[in-house]
Amino acid sequence: MKGSTFFKTASLLSPLLFSSAQAQESFTHAGTGITFLRQQVDESQTTGGYEFGYALPGTPTGSNDEYIGYIRGAVHSGGKGWSGVSHGGGMPNSLLLVAYPNGDSVGTRFVFAGGYVAPNDYTGNATLTQFAHTVTDTYFEVIYRCQWCWIWNQNGATGQQLPTEEVQVIGWAQHMDSPPSAGQSWRLHNNGQSQFGIQPANARKTEYDDWVAKYTNGTTPTPTPSDGPTPTPTPTAPTSCVGTPAPTGSYDYIVVGAGAAGIPVADKLSESGKSVLLIEKGPPSLGRFGGTMKPDWLEGTDLTRFDVPGLCNQIWVDSAGVACSDIDQMAGCVLGGGAAVNAALWWNPTPHDWDYSWPTGWRAADMKAATDRTFKRIPGTQVPSMDGIRYKPEGFNVLATALRADGWKEISPNEVPDQKNRTFADPPYMYENGQRQGPLGSYLVTAMERKNFKLWMNTAVRRIIRDGGKATGVELDGGDGGYCGTADLNPGGRVIVSAGVFGSTKLLFRSGIGPKDQLQTVQNSVQDGPSFINETEWIDLPVGKNLNDHVNTDLVIKHPNVSFYDFYEAWSDPIPNDREMYLEKRSGILAQSAPNIGPMFWEYIPGADGIQRAIQYQSRVEPSPPATDNTSMTISQYLGTGTVSRGALSINGALNMFVSTPPYLQDKEDLAAVITSIKHLQQVISKVPGIVWEVPAANVTVEDFVNSIPKTPARRRSNHWIGSSKIGTDSGLNGGTSVVDLNTQVYGTENIHVVDASLFPGHIVTNPTSYIVVVAEHSAAKILALGSGSQAPGKQAGAVRL
Ligand SMILES: *[C@@H]1O[C@H](CO)[C@@H](O)[C@H](O)[C@H]1NC(C)=O
Ligand SMILES: *[C@@H]1O[C@H](CO)[C@@H](O)[C@H](O)[C@H]1NC(C)=O
Ligand SMILES: *[C@@H]1O[C@H](CO)[C@@H](O)[C@H](O)[C@H]1NC(C)=O
Ligand SMILES: *[C@@H]1O[C@H](CO)[C@@H](O)[C@H](O)[C@H]1NC(C)=O
Ligand SMILES: *[C@@H]1O[C@H](CO)[C@@H](O)[C@H](O)[C@H]1NC(C)=O
Ligand SMILES: *[C@@H]1O[C@H](CO)[C@@H](O)[C@H](O)[C@H]1NC(C)=O
Ligand SMILES: *[C@@H]1O[C@H](CO)[C@@H](O)[C@H](O)[C@H]1NC(C)=O
Repeated sequence: MKGSTFFKTASLLSPLLFSSAQAQESFTHAGTGITFLRQQVDESQTTGGYEFGYALPGTPTGSNDEYIGYIRGAVHSGGKGWSGVSHGGGMPNSLLLVAYPNGDSVGTRFVFAGGYVAPNDYTGNATLTQFAHTVTDTYFEVIYRCQWCWIWNQNGATGQQLPTEEVQVIGWAQHMDSPPSAGQSWRLHNNGQSQFGIQPANARKTEYDDWVAKYTNGTTPTPTPSDGPTPTPTPTAPTSCVGTPAPTGSYDYIVVGAGAAGIPVADKLSESGKSVLLIEKGPPSLGRFGGTMKPDWLEGTDLTRFDVPGLCNQIWVDSAGVACSDIDQMAGCVLGGGAAVNAALWWNPTPHDWDYSWPTGWRAADMKAATDRTFKRIPGTQVPSMDGIRYKPEGFNVLATALRADGWKEISPNEVPDQKNRTFADPPYMYENGQRQGPLGSYLVTAMERKNFKLWMNTAVRRIIRDGGKATGVELDGGDGGYCGTADLNPGGRVIVSAGVFGSTKLLFRSGIGPKDQLQTVQNSVQDGPSFINETEWIDLPVGKNLNDHVNTDLVIKHPNVSFYDFYEAWSDPIPNDREMYLEKRSGILAQSAPNIGPMFWEYIPGADGIQRAIQYQSRVEPSPPATDNTSMTISQYLGTGTVSRGALSINGALNMFVSTPPYLQDKEDLAAVITSIKHLQQVISKVPGIVWEVPAANVTVEDFVNSIPKTPARRRSNHWIGSSKIGTDSGLNGGTSVVDLNTQVYGTENIHVVDASLFPGHIVTNPTSYIVVVAEHSAAKILALGSGSQAPGKQAGAVRL
């Protein structure tokens, strides 16, 4: 089966509402006479500028799988640089073309990445023929024919974006250095990247065949060239587990994934005296657990990049060995998961969030005890620096002045969690003693002290081994120094899947639990097909549906009081005084999250549909494109509680996970809330005359601005993914929307649970880490109450446990 069709792009954009700044124009290239539909990206977004254009055959014919392209990229000193195009919009799971100056000629390479990791050479049939090129000291141009470029297949990772929809989403990126030589790895690009929507209908040219004929010396283009494209070298046999044999042993509970949910669940289960195995796919993160990844200035200390608050943004610069390699969004595959790599914001949950979307037994009153237990262990602090000083507060002060003037109230958010309407705060963090702690520094520490608790790192789990609805253990998939073989459950034992929204969905799919089409993709995969659970045992549940994320819209302002602190430079070359303050006293700006976050502020927008939608604004001192000033602040608007739009996750033949339906702004009241709230913010900002709006610019309407941003993960994500194994009483086995019952047990099984952000029925006001820990506390109590003694046959969640 052809697993992954790319999402329907037409629904992602409202082309008629494009601001003029984004529209493409018709451009005839002087050297070749070919007319392209061209997008220009100016200097403010990428040094040296960038242009992409394309022409399509006059009418769609054959597989409709080619175009004539035009790239004009920047050349940096020494004739270096490269310029890339993504044929699917995003970087992961898309055919990527990289072009670069090479002396007087222009080189090209097709590459492909399964996640936010360095790409490999593409092995599919895409074929590039150069028509013309130019190289100068400052730019290069290449005009080329790209055949078999809109449908791709990298060892089973299939995808496509044919020019048949109203809009295609194209991605670009530029880098200031040359591409790696053969055998070397790609470095993360450093000269801008983004996406734009383009309308294929405007690129169709009746002269297309003539241009092709002219530049291929009269050879008539055919859908299949006579000598054939390079065939896809399809792997023919599964690769076997790399690692050492797992120690023999069996456990009462096996928890898969040591993140914000898996760690507290495993700790609470082990507190009962039962034996618990916690399995983490990634390596250690914090120094106290054996982590080693660090910049030079931390050598000789027991600190790593994960311990130091001021280095938390490094994942966006260097994610090698940290980001998951099998999902198309940025996520931490290290001990602690997201809680090891995020900005550590730590919120006492807003009670309305539980009451609004959660089922009986999971409402605010029910969650109170778990919340109290969580905050006793992880109180959080609004002043992470150990000397009690808040460093570089100018950005907070400027916006706070405006918010106060407009009547918004400053609060201590964790003392009054219900006050989220026209309020603001300096945010609380899960830092303690100037270092990252959170679930790692609390629950994992107590768990590790118990003899009945085991933690395995660097070990992936391939699938749950089950006999009908009863799990008997898990099959391991090794890794760097990890284990192969199986880990078994004791009679009456339980498996808890806590691998995060993407990881848990994948593990359930590979265990034969999920929608039929997704399970068929696994069944047809080279890696899992031959050993996949028999179709007669599949459990058909809506796993991967109900996907949601905060809708992010980035706004930019500037004010002369504000100045940028270079947290990125602090990686390689910290300001000596700041380094010493941190190393000696755990004080100073490096004890605060990058890049200088705050204020956070909130409001609810009543919708015409009667729903109150929650908006959180998260400010930081850092410009976002196209703004570049060092007095700029980005204000990310997150639309949360009350959103109606939902998306979906899918798996492809290479067993990589991807967002197949983006969850952003499909609903008109979701869209209206975003627009209305930005207008409120404009009113707030107007209270301080010295603040200048940079994005959206003064001459662009809020409506045009919001509608011009593609509704793709790359442009809209907050990386607060939730919802893919919804908790509820309407069992998906009977056509309902829920995957797990009120005890977090997967319907149709008797001992398989999901405990992580996958459970969330709907979105919440704030950043989710604290909610995930509270859910884990509450879930652990529910799971313990079920007991781990032998179950009577037939006691399946679908049958009795509501
Ligand atoms: C090229 O590869 C794609 C993706 O695997 C496939 O759909 C298409 O048929 C191939 N085209 C040719 C001409 O082989
Ligand atoms: C077309 O022919 C010219 C002259 O023979 C040659 O230099 C050029 O490389 C050819 N182009 C293609 C695309 O085959
Ligand atoms: C800007 O800084 C000056 C000098 O510290 C201060 O008086 C003023 O209130 C600040 N303005 C805002 C809007 O924060
Ligand atoms: C799956 O199970 C059915 C019914 O027991 C059996 O007929 C079939 O051969 C099995 N298929 C495989 C691939 O084992
Ligand atoms: C939030 O405040 C606005 C404006 O005062 C009001 O219209 C709305 O109903 C309030 N919403 C909630 C949930 O309190
Ligand atoms: C901010 O930018 C200006 C102009 O480019 C420069 O002169 C100034 O040194 C920069 N300030 C900081 C703190 O980087
Ligand atoms: C807005 O103004 C800028 C210059 O200030 C200009 O470049 C841009 O084209 C204008 N945009 C619109 C939509 O008028």
